[in-house]
Amino acid sequence: MQLSTKHLLGIKNITETDIHLIFETADKFKEVLNRPIKKVPSLRDVTVANLFFENSTRTRISFELAEKRLSADVVNFSASSSSVKKGETLLDTVQNILSMKVDMVVMRHPAPGAPLFLSRHIDASIINAGDGTHEHPTQALLDAFSMREQLGDLQGKNIAIFGDIQHSRVALSNIFCLKKLGANVKVCGPPTLIPKHIDKLGVGVEYDVKKTLEWCDVANVLRIQLERQDIKYFPSLREYSLYFGINKQILSGIDKDIIVMHPGPINRGVEITSDVADSKHSIILQQVENGVAIRMAILYLLAELRKV
Ligand code: CP
Repeated sequence: MQLSTKHLLGIKNITETDIHLIFETADKFKEVLNRPIKKVPSLRDVTVANLFFENSTRTRISFELAEKRLSADVVNFSASSSSVKKGETLLDTVQNILSMKVDMVVMRHPAPGAPLFLSRHIDASIINAGDGTHEHPTQALLDAFSMREQLGDLQGKNIAIFGDIQHSRVALSNIFCLKKLGANVKVCGPPTLIPKHIDKLGVGVEYDVKKTLEWCDVANVLRIQLERQDIKYFPSLREYSLYFGINKQILSGIDKDIIVMHPGPINRGVEITSDVADSKHSIILQQVENGVAIRMAILYLLAELRKV
């Protein structure tokens, strides 16, 4: 079995079969990660460049670990300490790096479409590690993989995504991924942070947090992306937390156990309280753990395609 695509630019353009192949490959790599020796030679002689034009903790470390566990040669680039600061363009930067014989590029960039642009100009395989407010495909895959571990097949399961849907690449990639896997998806947040016409993607829209929690099997709680907000979308963080925050009190008031997720970074006390983030309902750290296996699977499957 092979992926249907040479690059991972988003979830929108991959198939349900691709998603299952990634999950089945990640199952095997998760087993490797639990061995005393967590390294396999699959990407020996493959060079991967991690190009981060925007801040990251989890995604960057997770990709680097995944690459090293697969025995790839790894180079890291951070825009803040590069010649981008001297006015070099994205294409010039990447072409200079690729002339050093790089096979795969993992890229995070603030501009939506930056990985697609690159894929049209260079031969290396591109993995989108988050492009502005557009997509964050590896986050959606690790989220759905973590849900599958808890619930089995996601067909017919109820998944709610809470918070700043408007500015979230995680929300869009999650919606594409979960819909392809047959889940029912609702978004919940203040009307100002829910994009108009999002229902066209086949998701429900709800503004009442308690009603949404009563409906869902999984609550995926997102951060307020203040860095992408140029106007005020709600009066204050305190008011947001009061009406849309997920806390122990509201979870205790519903008559079922639900799974709570968050892609990180968490703003504790804003979208989620510590007594929920650190509770038995939360699988936030399992998400991070699964991220390495998912990223190993994607790197491995894309590298296999380069051999064809
Ligand atoms: N979830 C996520 O993308 O986190 P980072 O911004 O720390 O990579």
